[in-house]
Amino acid sequence: MFCVRKVTEDLYWVGGNDRRLALFENIHPIPRGVSYNSYLLLDKKTVLFDTVDWSISRQFLENIEAVLKGRKLDYLVINHMEPDHGASIEEIILRYPNVKIVSTEKSFLLMRQFGFDIDGREEEVKDGDTKSFGKHEIKFITAPMVHWPEVMVSFDTKNGVLFSADAFGSFGALDGKLFNDEVNFERDWIDDARRYYTNIVGKYGPHVQSLLKKVSTLDIKMICPLHGPVWRTNLGYFIDKHDKWSKYEPEEKAVMIVYASMYGNTESAANALATKFVEKGITNIVMYDVSNTHVSTLIAETFRVSHIVLASVTYNLGIYPLMHNYLMDMKALNLQNRTIALIENGSWATKSGKLMGEFLDGMKGMNILDDKMSLVSSMKEDNVVDMDALVEGVIESMNK
Ligand code: FEO
Repeated sequence: MFCVRKVTEDLYWVGGNDRRLALFENIHPIPRGVSYNSYLLLDKKTVLFDTVDWSISRQFLENIEAVLKGRKLDYLVINHMEPDHGASIEEIILRYPNVKIVSTEKSFLLMRQFGFDIDGREEEVKDGDTKSFGKHEIKFITAPMVHWPEVMVSFDTKNGVLFSADAFGSFGALDGKLFNDEVNFERDWIDDARRYYTNIVGKYGPHVQSLLKKVSTLDIKMICPLHGPVWRTNLGYFIDKHDKWSKYEPEEKAVMIVYASMYGNTESAANALATKFVEKGITNIVMYDVSNTHVSTLIAETFRVSHIVLASVTYNLGIYPLMHNYLMDMKALNLQNRTIALIENGSWATKSGKLMGEFLDGMKGMNILDDKMSLVSSMKEDNVVDMDALVEGVIESMNK
C-alpha cells in the first residue's frame, strides 16, 4: 500500500521510514528509526527530488506510482548522492527509462563510482542555475560538504520550498506526522535532531555557515530535508539551532559531567561533584557514564552545553579507552569553544588528567581550567578543598 503526504498543492512526500535499522551509517544507534524523505512535484513536467535508501525502495516505488497516476517521470533532481538517498536511482531509471537526472558534476562522478549507468540522461547544473518545469522554477545552490562535496540544495522560487538535502534533518521515523507543527519538536525531536546534526554534519560547521549565508537572501516558506520533519512554521527556531551548532556555540550555560570509572570510585567523586554544583545553585547539569552512553549522545550533549567536567580513571598508563574515544570523536568533529575542568584518578600511575589536558590543548578554542583535581584510588576528605576549588572555578567561568 502506498503512503504519501501532500506537502503543497502539487508537491508530495513520497519517502518512507526504516524502524528496523539499528545503526545509521552502521555506527549511530537510532532507536526511533529514521525517515528517508523524497518529494515529487507534479508540474507540466514531473520532478522527483532525491531517492531513498535501498531498505525502503519498494515502498518508495509504490508511492511514486500512486502520485504519478499513470504520468511518466520526466526529471530526477539529486541533491545528495550518499547512498541513503541515491541508492534507488537505478530502480527509477529502470521504471522510468526516459527520466533525465539533474545534479552537479561531482554528483554524476559519484553515481558512476557507485556503478550507475546514467549515460545520456545527465543535466549538469552549477551554483545559481535555474530551470523551469512549468509553473515552478527551481534554483540550484551548491552546498559542498553539507555533508558531502557534491551536495546542492534546490529552491522553488514559486512557492518558497527549499529542498535542503541533509541540512535541517533529524534521526527519527515519522509516525504519520510529517510537518513540524504536527509534532512536539522540543519534547520529542530536538535531541535526535541535535544528535543527527552534530554527528553527521558537525565537522563541517564553516560549510554550513556558508550555506546559511547563501540562503539567507531567499524567501524560504518551507524546508524539506532528506530526514525528519518538514518545516513550515517557526523556521527561525531551527535555523537558529543550526547557526549555533555550526558556529560551535553552546546552546545553554550548563554543566555536563562525563566520567569513566572502573570500580565506582571515580563515579562516586562525580556524584559528589554534581551535588556540590546543585548546592551552589547550578541545576542545569547532566551526568554521563562513558561506559554506558553512546558516544553520539555524548557528542550531541557536548554541542549543547557550555561547561564540561571530564573525570577519568587512568587505564594502562593512559586515558580510559572509552573516554579517549569520546575525546577523539570530539576532535574529529571539530568541536571547539568549550570550557573544561579535569579530574583524574589512578592507583599506581595517575596520568589521565595530564593526558586529557594535552589532548584538549591540541584542539581549537578549548579553555581548560587550572583547578585540576587528582585522586589516588578514591576521593577522601583531603580532596574536598580541591573539589570546592574546581566547582568555584567552573561557576566563575559560567558567570563571565
Ligand atoms: Fe542522509 Fe549525507 O546522507
